[in-house]
Amino acid sequence: MKTQETKSIPKKRIILSLILVIVAVGVWTISMVEEKTPTAAENSRALIGGPFTLTNHMNEPVTDKDFLGKYMIVYFGYTYCPDVCPMDLQIMADAARYLTPEQLDKLNLVFVTVDPDRDKVEVMAEYITYFHPKLIGLTGTPEQIDAVKKEYRVYAAKADDTADYLVDHTAYTYFMDPEGALLKHFNHGEDPEQMAALMASMIK
Ligand code: NI
Repeated sequence: MKTQETKSIPKKRIILSLILVIVAVGVWTISMVEEKTPTAAENSRALIGGPFTLTNHMNEPVTDKDFLGKYMIVYFGYTYCPDVCPMDLQIMADAARYLTPEQLDKLNLVFVTVDPDRDKVEVMAEYITYFHPKLIGLTGTPEQIDAVKKEYRVYAAKADDTADYLVDHTAYTYFMDPEGALLKHFNHGEDPEQMAALMASMIK
């Protein structure tokens, strides 16, 4: 009958809307429960790292994808650096020497310059030989270096305008997982043996 029909349609609609509201509230509640306050470690894990396009010391174009599938220990600095960079790169190299060949095989050692004006491919190619045979040097255009600095939250800027200028820069060594996410960062002057122990405990 007509009167019953017109009454039953709004009823169905009301029931349907109620179900939708219940489902929506349920989904919202679950998402609120699951959403915990991220810790500092989780924050930096999400913040550090990302896509880049650079040139390696063999003058080959590389991207972040070329380094996925292996762990990566990466340092940002410059070859003219009188003290901080050579020290941290030596620490990275020494730490790598504490690892087993199997662990080392799963690790990329990377040095990214923050001084692309002076650190051309040939400069990088020579510099890395002072540290470790596995060390990969990366340089690029100023724009490419700016982009990778941003991805890794690296600060670096020329300290003066002279020809033999210094570069002020952050001195973190990042240990990244095979998916390109940060596992751990090391400060300047880390103990290589401790650094190696931590990497060894995480390399699977
Ligand atoms: Ni330096």
